[in-house]
Amino acid sequence: MGDLKLALLGFGSVGQAFSKMLTEKQDDIRKTYGRGVIVTAISGRSKGTIVDPDGIDLMKVCADVEATGAFDPETKGYCDKNTMEVVAEADYDAICEMTVLNIFTGQPAIDHIKGAFARGKHVVTANKGPIAWAFDELKQEADEKGLGFFYETTVMDGTPVFNLVEHTLKLCKVTAVSGILNSTTNFILEGLAAGTDYDTIMEEGRRLGFVEADPTMDTHGYDAAAKVTALLNVLMHAGITPEDVDRKGIEDITVEDIKAAEARGKVIKLLCEGRLEDEKVIASVKPVEVDKQDMMASVDSTTSVVSITTDLMGKVSVIEHAPEIEQTAYGVFGDVLRVLEV
Ligand SMILES: NC(=O)c1ccc[n+]([C@@H]2O[C@H](COP(=O)([O-])OP(=O)(O)OC[C@H]3O[C@@H](n4cnc5c(N)ncnc54)[C@H](OP(=O)(O)O)[C@@H]3O)[C@@H](O)[C@H]2O)c1
Repeated sequence: MGDLKLALLGFGSVGQAFSKMLTEKQDDIRKTYGRGVIVTAISGRSKGTIVDPDGIDLMKVCADVEATGAFDPETKGYCDKNTMEVVAEADYDAICEMTVLNIFTGQPAIDHIKGAFARGKHVVTANKGPIAWAFDELKQEADEKGLGFFYETTVMDGTPVFNLVEHTLKLCKVTAVSGILNSTTNFILEGLAAGTDYDTIMEEGRRLGFVEADPTMDTHGYDAAAKVTALLNVLMHAGITPEDVDRKGIEDITVEDIKAAEARGKVIKLLCEGRLEDEKVIASVKPVEVDKQDMMASVDSTTSVVSITTDLMGKVSVIEHAPEIEQTAYGVFGDVLRVLEV
């Protein structure tokens, strides 16, 4: 069998970090799987597009983007095709969907994935939009066509959550899921608890890269709602969208609330939860007072946690400690290795 050919959709932080990891581990991949992984197309919104069936020099493209913010028009295969055209026309075996998240629709990532499946291609996605908005439909199509569809990165980066349940909790029924999944709200709540005022926290957060220019997606719980929806769609077959989540953010939490909670031996966290009620999955995101002794209370800043309750194995928790972009890249890398096994 020849090398696995990838089309990379999105070449931002994740796409570039994944490209470096793939280049670094190419020899190990060949030794382990007996074939390599090459990239035959890269496309995004504004950097240009490169399509080269012989394989793209990823380190050169990363260097060009670092130097100029765009692809070098002199690169072999440079063209002006958009991502949908690449999905429909390029020569590849799998796409890696790494375009920006649209939290309210999951697009254009859903269409990228449908386009790849229509051509009988495998899909790896780091983008949680499709898992939150269209998981059942996409999974059914992949299964019917015998195609790989992998999405480990969508919740807690490369930390095994979906793989953990699929491979090591066999025949366990997941009955509840809870977690702290949004680092921005963790950061804000910690800052308020330490006595820092809101504006200073936001300024520091932006400087450190935690806080977006418009922090509403995080503070109002939209990001957490998309993550818990993805978790529940995969682990509990919930068949829900983020609109079904009972959502409340931390926008109304005051320093007084935090101090009052502290006096009761509690810490306020933005908790994501899903549980079964009359065989229906009920999902929520809301600020909750957690006991200071509870493991969840110690989850701060960019660290996140998911606890999964099952019928056969009780409650299992996974913590991702202060991830960097490499942990996200590893999620995509690990899923690409799974495509080699399909
Ligand atoms: N960063 C993380 O740690 C992390 C962790 C887990 C999951 N993810 C997910 O991974 C994906 C990529 O994240 P990132 O941090 O790499 O984002 P990023 O740096 O903002 O890069 C996003 C990429 O998407 C492209 N893009 C934006 N809008 C597009 C459109 N309408 N059509 C086609 N391409 C479009 C951009 O193209 P241009 O640059 O040309 O505009 C860029 O290449 C996102 O879905 C994110 O939610 C990220």
